[in-house]
Formats: sequence, C-alpha cells, structure tokens
Amino acid sequence: MCGIVGYLGENAVRISAKKLELLQYRGYDSAGVGFIQNGKIHLSKTVGSVKNLRADYDSFSAIAHTRWATHGNVCTRNAHPHTSGENWAIVHNGIIENYTKLREGEFVSDTDSEVISFLLEKHGKGLNSVIETAKNLEGSFAILALEKGSELYAIKNKSPLFASANKSGIMFASDPICFCGFSDTYYTFCDKEVAKASGKTLKFYDFDGNEIAKECVGLDIDQTQSDKGDFDTFMRKEIYDIPFCQKRIYETYTNSYLLPIIKLFQSADEVWFIGCGTAYHACAYGEDVFAKAGKKTRAFIASEFRYSHIFPSKNTLCVFISQSGETADTLGALEKVDKICKTVALTNVGYSALAKSCQMVLPVLAGEERAVASTKAYVCQLTVLSLIARAISDRVVAIEIVDKQTIDELSGVAKRLVIGFDSKELFVLGRNADYVTAMECALKVKEVSYINANAYPTGELKHGFIALLSNDAQVLVFATSDDLMKKNCSGAQECKSRGANVTVITTSEHEFAGVDEIIKVGSYIQSVVFAQVFALECAIKRDTNPDMPKNLAKSVTVE
Ligand code: F6R
Repeated sequence: MCGIVGYLGENAVRISAKKLELLQYRGYDSAGVGFIQNGKIHLSKTVGSVKNLRADYDSFSAIAHTRWATHGNVCTRNAHPHTSGENWAIVHNGIIENYTKLREGEFVSDTDSEVISFLLEKHGKGLNSVIETAKNLEGSFAILALEKGSELYAIKNKSPLFASANKSGIMFASDPICFCGFSDTYYTFCDKEVAKASGKTLKFYDFDGNEIAKECVGLDIDQTQSDKGDFDTFMRKEIYDIPFCQKRIYETYTNSYLLPIIKLFQSADEVWFIGCGTAYHACAYGEDVFAKAGKKTRAFIASEFRYSHIFPSKNTLCVFISQSGETADTLGALEKVDKICKTVALTNVGYSALAKSCQMVLPVLAGEERAVASTKAYVCQLTVLSLIARAISDRVVAIEIVDKQTIDELSGVAKRLVIGFDSKELFVLGRNADYVTAMECALKVKEVSYINANAYPTGELKHGFIALLSNDAQVLVFATSDDLMKKNCSGAQECKSRGANVTVITTSEHEFAGVDEIIKVGSYIQSVVFAQVFALECAIKRDTNPDMPKNLAKSVTVE
C-alpha cells in the first residue's frame, strides 16, 4: 500500500502532488512531499487526502507519498517523507521487516520507514550510500530518496516501482498510470534494483552497483473511464460501467480466443482458484461453476493458502484472481506454487506483477476501477469464469450482460429498501453460488457503510447463528438457484418465525410467501448487482464516502 511519486524537472512539487492524486487508491491516511529549495531539503505534510497538501513550491526535484498506515498511527509525524539529518529525505511503500534491529538511537516517527533515511545518512553520500542502505533492508520496499544536491534515487524490492522520462524530466511512480500525459513509454524495475536520476540522465544498477541496460515498454493504459462524470460516486459510476465492460468481454473471449484457454483448463486434473476479499468471492464462484462443468476444483483465500500445508500436484492449474494484480498475499500464494504447477492470472491490470509472473493472463477488461470497493471488476471476473466454464460444458449457463435499465430498477429498489433499514447488524444468507453473493454483499455493506453485515450459508442457521435472531434482526436471503429454492425458503421461514425482518432476493417470487419483502431479479448476475447497489445505498443513507472508506486501500501490497 502507499503510493510514491518522484520527479526531477521544472515544477517538481506541483507535478508530484498532482500525480499523487492518482495513487490515492493505495491509501489516503496522510500525504506529504519533500523538495529542495536554496540547497536545503523542505517537507510539506498533511493528515488525510492529497487535496489538503500544500504544494505551491518551486523546486527542480521532489518526492511525494500518500500513506496507508502500517507502523505508527495516522498523524503528521508519521506522514512521509522522513529525514534523519540534512542530506536525505525518503518516501517508502512496503514494510521493512528488520526495522526494529535497525532502529538505533533517536527516531522521530513510529514508522518502520524512518530507518531508511537513518541508514542513508549513516552511509554518507550518493549512489554508494543508496546501495549500502538497500543491502541492509529486509522486506518489501519501493523507496524514493532525495539527496540534498538534487539527485533522485529509487530502490525496489517486492513493491511495485516504475520510471519514465521525457525531454522535460524524469519521473518515478508506484503505478505507470502516473505517466499518462507525460510519456508513451516507461521502465519497470525488477527486484533488487536501484536507479539514479541526475539532470536528464536515468541509470539503473543492481545491488552490487553494476549498471543494468533496461528496455522501456509502451504505455498502454485506458484512462477513458477514469472520470466520474455526472455520477455522485465512482462506485455508482463503475456499477453503471458493467454493461459496457461485459460487452467487451463477450467481444474478446470469442471461440478462437477461448481455444488455448479451454485446452489449458481441460488438461488440468484440478483447477484451484486463489485470491483475497472480493477476488476470493470470485474464486468461490469459480469453484461452483467449474464443479458444475465437471471439473475437480477448490477455492482458497490467498493469505491462508500461502502458509498452509496444502500443495497442488503438478497437474493442478492454479488460477490467481486479483483486480489489481499487486495484492501481496496473492503474489505470496503464487510464489508458493509457481515452481510446482501451471499458473494463470485473472486480473484487470495487464502490467501488474501477477500478470507478469503467471504463465497465462486472462484479462478482466473492466477498465480502471477507482472506487475502493470492487464492483465492475467482480462482475467481469464472474463473466469471464462463466464463459470459460460454459466453453468446457453446456451444463453451465454463461452470465448474461446486464443492461442499464436493470441497474436503474435495482438501484431504485435498493434505495427504497434501505429507508427502512435501521439495524446496525445485517444477516445475509444464501446457498452455494448464492452464498457467494451473500458473502460479497456482506463484505460490500461492511466496507462502504460500516454496518456489521455477516454472511452465513442458509443451512448453517440452526447450527448456531439463529441464536442471534430476534425482532430487530434484519435478514437478506439470496435465492436464485432453482434446485435450492425450497431449501432457501425454509431458511427464510425459520428467520421469520424468530421475528426477524426478512427480505428475499430471488428469481422465483412464488416460493416465499410470508416474508417481509420479495425482490424479483431476472438472474444470478442481477442479484449480484443488487448486492452492490444495496451496499452503495446503505453508504449514501449513512452519509459515508463509499469511494474512500475509512482504513482501507484499493491495492493491498503489504501482508
Ligand atoms: C472489496 C475489495 C477487496 C479486494 C481485495 C483483493 O471491495 O475490493 O476485498 O477484492 O483487497 O484485491 P485484488 O482483487 O486487487 O487482489
């Protein structure tokens, strides 16, 4: 997490701060910029978003940071950049795992990052100090270090870092998205590399100080969808992007495009899906739909899987699902298996570490997703999975394209429904694929509205959590599978008979007599979109910001 930008050239502070806005999806606890004026390092910091950051300074070099707090609470003292003397200022994304060992003497902040400026001062000047510092660090780090003389250095290990240059300057950033409008090409750092920007020259080195020849690649980023236009929030805008994105999937995943993919899936003895959060829910959907297609399959939470004693065989196909392609736990899970079996990345970011490290990439094609809560990427992941499963077996019905009118209608229903919702707690139920939607609904509601929503498989009701139900309990039941309708119906009735207020989201309204509200949807995927607009309306009603929920970041690049 955390986003970093560095710039060497005219207007360095303004340019860095502007680009930093694009990285707020990586965290927005505090922001800061370091720059040189009159031969001295100066810092400007703020708690909260980059828009509060003072950046009207003239300088030819700057480093900037937007923070997601890991070590040390959210305050200006812990905001980056950090200095430990007069010669160096640093910004850091990642975690320095050996920081306690390195913290000798007086430190100003509570962060792990401050040891970096401390080491730079200790090792003296220039590239030599940068390399000595880098060699002493353990963990994940993308670091920008500004030296008093105006030189800018970059160090990378395990956290993303990119560089680009045009005739006016040299830029470093956590995401090449910052290079849009600056240059058509960029460089990708590999682990254990350092770069030095001085004047108009950019050079790369390994940790032994040997210069490395690096090729730049073309920048291919679609920023056309990054404006929220007339929508009140990015989350709503992105839900309304779904029809367009799904159409693009159908146009891309044609029969001939699917051929090598089907071959790979069919030749595997088992297909395992691995991801975190919402992407894990896509994995759980993958498990359900590929089981329907007759494959042996399992879904895993990446953070659990990576340290488990479960290993694939060499004929297992591991499919890693990640919107960002930078999630540390998902990358950790990949590292565990990539020497054992074939790996596939289902990701929205073609230049991500996940895409680069897997043997095949299945593009999610959702376009840039700005809201922290993933919506359109999730629907696109499900759509791709269903198309592949459908290509393997006609027992699977591929997910259809949702249209704008349906989103309008579902939003209207969700808006009306939340008016009556006063509960601080919500129970969300479903079975099999509908349980996946229940988990996703509960996660979305929690993250954007802070209501304590929890998902349970409907059948688990009587094994424990029914004890929590009483007159003021609010229950949502997702029920779109024909073969499980009756089972979901008894679950809904059991909740009702304990006095709970029960709303059922179903494709079959006739089954659920006696519940408080029945919301008719046309299909499984419409129930998923309903879950998303419902969470959004909960946030709007409670006046929270669904695009930037507290404590969260979109790209979780630390463990
Ligand atoms: C929830 C959400 C998160 C992410 C999770 C994994 O709305 O967005 O739960 O799904 O952090 O992120 P990716 O998909 O980038 O690996």
